[in-house]
Amino acid sequence: MHPRFRLLGLLADGHFHSGEALGAALDLSRAGVWKLVQSLADLGLEVSAVPGRGYRLEHAFQLLDAERILSAVDPAARGRLARVEVLPTVDSTNRFLQSLGASGAPSGTVCLAEHQSAGRGRRGRTWISPFGAALYLSLLWRFPLAPAALGPLSVAVGVLVAEALEDLGVEGAGLKWPNDLLWRGRKLAGVLTEVAGEATGPAQVVIGLGVNVHLPPAVGDAIDQPWVDLSTIQGGRVDRNVLASRLLERLSIGLDRFSREGFAPFRGAWDRLDLARGRPVVMTLGEGRVAGTCRGLDDSGALLVESQGRTGRYLSGEVSLRLPA
Ligand code: BTN
Repeated sequence: MHPRFRLLGLLADGHFHSGEALGAALDLSRAGVWKLVQSLADLGLEVSAVPGRGYRLEHAFQLLDAERILSAVDPAARGRLARVEVLPTVDSTNRFLQSLGASGAPSGTVCLAEHQSAGRGRRGRTWISPFGAALYLSLLWRFPLAPAALGPLSVAVGVLVAEALEDLGVEGAGLKWPNDLLWRGRKLAGVLTEVAGEATGPAQVVIGLGVNVHLPPAVGDAIDQPWVDLSTIQGGRVDRNVLASRLLERLSIGLDRFSREGFAPFRGAWDRLDLARGRPVVMTLGEGRVAGTCRGLDDSGALLVESQGRTGRYLSGEVSLRLPA
């Protein structure tokens, strides 16, 4: 492992560590430790250096641990998962799993990373991914279905993520179509599902989740929409390993259900979590914009927007809605 990540393993507890002790643990001179500490800024981490005390991370965090994650998943769900890979850094966990999938990795393969250098968001956006500040998780799933039958999958995944957060005691989160998770109008988590496969099936899907856990303010300033993180909502430290376990539990059971029964079983939960139903929305599709009232989803997961006496059905596009803070 790169010494930078070994250094992070030592500093993760949020306590002071002297340059001397770090140097001994990493087999580096004190100047070498200083240089390595400076390089942590590239990962978006803030470290304080105090003469006589040493170095300390501004925010303690728990490193991701594949063993801990898998062992905390309910056995019924664990059987549906294959290997769990934790990487200190990667360009994108979705990109990584797509290429593992192309070389035959089994359904249920999971990749998590502490940092992404080229995290992908929906609609070609970048997902800013500072080290240890969020959960970046991707899951490879194989469906015995044609890609065209997977239209409502990303909506169902949004429901499963919201339910996993409810399992962890997060109250008041809701969904904006197709799968943005918002809390009091601010984005808490996003989902990117990427589908590949022959037109007649089967389909290979990579489901990528980004959940904000403790974003440093400087990083948050670079995000172009209102956002919130779990440590703000829950008032303290959040165990990302437990978060990953709950998400994998909900997803693995829910995705099997989607394979067998489609979108119908997710319908009720969507209606409960839907933030837009009955509200004024603006739907943007390419150059076009439609302002109207959201009328929820149809059975295929398409969004219904009523405007000037007729109801339009949308399978893609971007919804904006104004929510009370
Ligand atoms: C969105 O735009 O709301 C979707 C964001 C999805 C981000 C996650 S982070 C883990 C996975 N890897 C990526 O490159 N993107 C997804």
